[in-house]
Amino acid sequence: MNRLENKVAIVTGAASGMGEATVKLFAAQGAKVIAADINVAGLERVVEEVKAAGGDITAVQVDIGNEEMIQNMIQTAIDTYGKLDILMNNAARLDFQKDVTVKDMDIFEWDETMRYNLKSVMLGIKYALPFMIENGSGSIINTASIGGQVGEMTKSAYAAAKAGVISLTRSTAVQFGKEGIRCNAIAPGMVLPKDRIDNAPDYLTALIDVYKDVKLVDRIGDPMDIANLALFLATDESSFITGQVINADGGMLAQNPTVNAVKNANLSW
Ligand SMILES: NC(=O)c1ccc[n+]([C@@H]2O[C@H](COP(=O)([O-])OP(=O)(O)OC[C@H]3O[C@@H](n4cnc5c(N)ncnc54)[C@H](O)[C@@H]3O)[C@@H](O)[C@H]2O)c1
Repeated sequence: MNRLENKVAIVTGAASGMGEATVKLFAAQGAKVIAADINVAGLERVVEEVKAAGGDITAVQVDIGNEEMIQNMIQTAIDTYGKLDILMNNAARLDFQKDVTVKDMDIFEWDETMRYNLKSVMLGIKYALPFMIENGSGSIINTASIGGQVGEMTKSAYAAAKAGVISLTRSTAVQFGKEGIRCNAIAPGMVLPKDRIDNAPDYLTALIDVYKDVKLVDRIGDPMDIANLALFLATDESSFITGQVINADGGMLAQNPTVNAVKNANLSW
């Protein structure tokens, strides 16, 4: 099928994980794709694979912490393909060692996390909007996180930045809806490609088990779960959906937080 025929899409973080799965799916569905990432070798691999499958793809090196590079990424879509229909702000930064509790927060890490995970999303939207408005339509998809909606034991800056992404998503939808722009956020729960699960170190295997336990489905997420949702949000099939945060988390946030404790307590009612 060609659900994205004649559409031009930019996806950041395209050299791995959800971004890679999304550019491959978008290209397979007929979109002309700008694959953006800081990792040039990774981008080259993805571009080769997409071209081998018959897709139309152009790589752009971008550091999402750099405003000029973000502007250049947007301009490349216009210069190469003449317009921009879809922007997926997906790349992010997370340093588990430095982004810890609020009390022990490394201030440099806080500022960098805001720059990479929140300011970058604002800049992507800011520079994409004039072209989308001129075009009369556009779908912006921001990768947020369930961590932006609940309190976290650690990674306080990451969670705050993702909460900011959710707020920016809604403001963008409110401000530009009448001009044909939709803006939605995807909030993944734990998502890992199969090879990372298979080769996971002990701590990650233990964490995967914890996450599986609190999900309503019996697995953690695969990058294709996110790519499939991004495809729906990118197409006109979702033209009545804007300003939304859609959790792709195996139902994790849908349950009463006491559910597992109640199960383990073996209560007789
Ligand atoms: N994996 C999860 O469980 C999970 C859960 C919730 C939210 N998220 C969010 O989903 C998104 C994608 O996560 P993923 O697991 O697919 O990540 P990933 O680590 O597999 O891929 C991230 C990509 O972003 C690129 N990148 C990193 N820094 C960059 C920079 N400064 N400029 C440009 N590109 C940069 C990397 O090179 C990499 O290709 C992120 O926004 C992340 O915060 C992930």
